[in-house]
Amino acid sequence: MSARFNLAIHSSSGDYDVRIGHGTFDELLTERAEDPIVADAFFADRLQREQARTLLLPAEEEHKTLGAAAALIERLRDLGTARGDELIAVGGGIIQDVATAAASLYMRGLAWSYAPTTLLGMADSCIGGKSSLNVGRYKNLAGNFHPPKTVVVDPTFIDTLPEEDRAGGLCEAMKISYCRGPEAFDRYLELYEDGDQAALIHHALAAKQWFIEVDEFDRAERRLLNFGHTFAHALEAATRFGVGHGIAVGIGVLAAEAFAGHPAPALAAHARTLVAAADDLPARLEGRDRDVFEAAVLSDKKHSHGHVHLILPAAGGAIAEQRFPRDAQTIARVQAALDEAIATVIA
Ligand SMILES: NC(=O)c1ccc[n+]([C@@H]2O[C@H](COP(=O)([O-])OP(=O)(O)OC[C@H]3O[C@@H](n4cnc5c(N)ncnc54)[C@H](O)[C@@H]3O)[C@@H](O)[C@H]2O)c1
Repeated sequence: MSARFNLAIHSSSGDYDVRIGHGTFDELLTERAEDPIVADAFFADRLQREQARTLLLPAEEEHKTLGAAAALIERLRDLGTARGDELIAVGGGIIQDVATAAASLYMRGLAWSYAPTTLLGMADSCIGGKSSLNVGRYKNLAGNFHPPKTVVVDPTFIDTLPEEDRAGGLCEAMKISYCRGPEAFDRYLELYEDGDQAALIHHALAAKQWFIEVDEFDRAERRLLNFGHTFAHALEAATRFGVGHGIAVGIGVLAAEAFAGHPAPALAAHARTLVAAADDLPARLEGRDRDVFEAAVLSDKKHSHGHVHLILPAAGGAIAEQRFPRDAQTIARVQAALDEAIATVIA
């Protein structure tokens, strides 16, 4: 066993384990030598020897659809996949979302294992069991919960990731650690300085574990992990996904801080350092569509009728969900907070 860290995650549909360490991916392939694999097409060469059991998908937002999940289900049937088999998913959040949805539906539920290959997948999305599919022009509109049976986090996958994608994954790890409290955030900063990737991923996942176990179905505490996300999702849409999710979360955290008026200097300084890894940011941000941004802010799933709900920094390094009237004044404040955050990252 090459895992350096292990986590045991409790969920109502079954417990699952997370193994973190170099070599864990090859171990999984050996352990589950007969099972079908769905993988990001980027890994076609790496999975050459497993070709006969591997289905390759493009990791592109336009393919993260109900249709893609249906096509995967059909291809699993073509491979003769039976109820007792296990699907192995290899890729970032796009492959995870399609695999979760397809596995949850195939013959009313197929067990699956997940090897995240992006830092965002490793440090955040690989636990929690959510799927989110795009429907028409709506991102992440449809989804369900179907946790994997095993997650293997093999940091060797990080080696081929572009710098910006690494920084984007760190934005999520930063956010989770901050949400867990001042001690967890300080520890995250230490691990970041040390450069110990496996330990940092373990730290972020252990922090997220608390939220998903105390509130598996996202009704109370887990909602706090949406810190920065109302701004981030809307910014992604307003730049036609020219700014990726992780970097948008970094900017979203800065915007939430600006909106709240509770300074969080260590968080803001670190978020700015991470966001600086993105190339050409001024060009990508200056062309953003303010109307699309506004519409996307208002369509956030967290809002209630009549109110916009935001997760914001609060006193003493805490964060809290707050609600504001769904009116022109709130929208103007949200736009102004984003403008302020952007001004600090492109300065
Ligand atoms: N289900 C969840 O809980 C959850 C949580 C957060 C985000 N998401 C979703 O995840 C998606 C974003 O996922 P993501 O950022 O992890 O990546 P991704 O799946 O969107 O992939 C991004 C790019 O990175 C490439 N890539 C993947 N691994 C690589 C590697 N090791 N080396 C080089 N290139 C690699 C892919 O081929 C692709 O071109 C969004 O659709 C988002 O909505 C889901």
